[in-house]
Amino acid sequence: MICPSISLLAASGLFLGASQAAVLRKDDQTCRKTKVAILGAGVAGITAAQSLSNASISDFIIIERNDYVGGRMRNTKFGKSPDGKPYTVELGANWVEGLQSKSGNVNPIWRLAQKHKIKNTYSNGSSLVTYDETGKYDFMDIIDDFDKKWETAMEDADAIKDENLQDTSVRAGLSIAGWKPKKDMHAQAAEWWGWDFEMAVVPDQSGFLYDMSVNKAVFEHFSEDTNLVTDQRGFNALIIGEANEFLKKNDPRLLLKSIVKEIKYGPSGVKVHLKDGDCIEAEYAICTFSVGVLQNDVVKFKPTLPRWKREAIEQFQMGTYTKIFMQFNETWWPRETQFMLYADPIERGYYPMFQSLSATGFVPESNILFGTVTGTQAYQVEKQTEKETQAEIMEVLQAMFPKITVPEPTAIMYPRWSQDEMAFGSFSNWPPGMTLEKHQNLRANVDRLWFAGEANSAEFFGYLQGAWFEGKDMGDRIAHILNSDGAVADGEGELMRYEVLHGDTFKDEYDEDNGWSITLDD
Ligand SMILES: Cc1cc2nc3c(=O)[nH]c(=O)nc-3n(C[C@H](O)[C@H](O)[C@H](O)COP(=O)(O)OP(=O)(O)OC[C@H]3O[C@@H](n4cnc5c(N)ncnc54)[C@H](O)[C@@H]3O)c2cc1C
Ligand SMILES: *[C@@H]1O[C@H](CO)[C@@H](O)[C@H](O)[C@H]1NC(C)=O
Ligand SMILES: *[C@@H]1O[C@H](CO)[C@@H](O)[C@H](O)[C@H]1NC(C)=O
Ligand SMILES: *[C@@H]1O[C@H](CO)[C@@H](O)[C@H](O)[C@H]1NC(C)=O
Repeated sequence: MICPSISLLAASGLFLGASQAAVLRKDDQTCRKTKVAILGAGVAGITAAQSLSNASISDFIIIERNDYVGGRMRNTKFGKSPDGKPYTVELGANWVEGLQSKSGNVNPIWRLAQKHKIKNTYSNGSSLVTYDETGKYDFMDIIDDFDKKWETAMEDADAIKDENLQDTSVRAGLSIAGWKPKKDMHAQAAEWWGWDFEMAVVPDQSGFLYDMSVNKAVFEHFSEDTNLVTDQRGFNALIIGEANEFLKKNDPRLLLKSIVKEIKYGPSGVKVHLKDGDCIEAEYAICTFSVGVLQNDVVKFKPTLPRWKREAIEQFQMGTYTKIFMQFNETWWPRETQFMLYADPIERGYYPMFQSLSATGFVPESNILFGTVTGTQAYQVEKQTEKETQAEIMEVLQAMFPKITVPEPTAIMYPRWSQDEMAFGSFSNWPPGMTLEKHQNLRANVDRLWFAGEANSAEFFGYLQGAWFEGKDMGDRIAHILNSDGAVADGEGELMRYEVLHGDTFKDEYDEDNGWSITLDD
């Protein structure tokens, strides 16, 4: 016998290829060390860092893949103003939703919007005109009917909460309240306006109890007002402004354009590997990536996240909400109407909403109209080109305004949230069948790896304030642990989790009551 071949030796690990050696070296390299690694510089990440900073903990590093602070508070330049400069338009969050109540509850985002003098205008849901394929067509009575049924459904949801009864879908909840739109396309449009436009997910895929309760939390706890932001610095000027209060110019603690590839966690710390080969070793980490990012294997967790955690991540869902911006050579649509709702005769949710940015108080003279699509239609639009989308929209607009010749837009642009690796969707939504305990598992830390972000707020998921509250909570908790110099008991300050979740009707009980268990056995 001759001696084993080189390739066999290589396979057995005695010889290493150049690339494997490089991996080893990277792994052995000394990582930059810090107390807290904050993954993501959106509202949750920046607020968590501010909490630490407020608690006199300055040893943290914020890691962000984009080249800006703000995450899904994201804007871009679009079109041309009369002086030749482009306008700033919001690709992501656009409204402050819920301002402040008479009793003194202030939405933290509203507080920051005022502090940083963010330009915003009352969004008037009554400034609405309805259309269908024949042109202007008044179906406000159907919208009023939806609102009435909604009130009934809201009371039902309250009863479910108060008596801890089994949850259902929003579709079922509305139907029990008497809302049955069936094939009436005006009713379908009314429903889209009343539900999808806010939640980005159809009622059938929305959990009744918690989706009704997030509406209550946003619009009753603070106020029923929402204000549209048109600040030309961008909406995220408020979170950049906050970051600038505790970060210096070119602060080495903010790593932009840095993509997290792998997170190794354990009971004594967290090691974060970046795409460019660098690594950061931290006592604690707070991951603020969206549920979409966590669901799509962008980041590798080592060890694999436990089953109770993965189940929560996979069940929560990301909606898609796509704003399509168009500039025209003139404002040919009703200038002072804020919302134009279109009922397509065939397809629910087909280019159902157009908003005028030219209205007084917004961006007058901008000649910008933007459409919104959600869910299936958002996926569709994000798959096709701007040109294809423009052709479809032109047909709809021409049907809505049969008396004029609608001009082609001079510019059209939209983001593709469902495909964007930074978020994989726009914002989260509570699905049917998700219990409060399972949602808590989304929040709960795994060893020294913590989680924050909009989806983790049971009260305000989907909203900027959800991201703010969760960022603050996790930052405060970790600050408490770090500042106690080891004086906290093991597990103190950590989040509750539920490793085993049961169905809510025990089978034994069912068998006893029904005396029938042939097919349910085994
Ligand atoms: C189209 C749209 C419309 C919306 N409208 C509103 C609205 O009107 N009002 C409202 O209140 N809310 C709205 N929202 C929701 C709001 O924007 C979010 O709730 C909030 O911005 C989420 O903040 P966050 O910090 O939890 O997450 P993010 O903002 O997503 O922050 C997470 C950060 O992590 C970064 N990241 C992700 N993966 C990696 C990686 N591998 N490595 C490094 N960094 C990474 C991301 O780039 C991002 O900056 C909207 C969102 C969208 C998309
Ligand atoms: C940090 O402290 C400032 C000043 O007291 C406060 O306004 C801000 O809300 C605090 N931030 C957090 C996240 O707690
Ligand atoms: C909202 O719009 C309606 C309809 O145009 C109008 O009657 C009402 O005064 C507006 N409300 C506010 C506060 O501007
Ligand atoms: C805008 O374009 C349309 C169609 O091309 C044209 O009829 C109209 O006069 C233009 N309006 C202005 C203000 O130039």
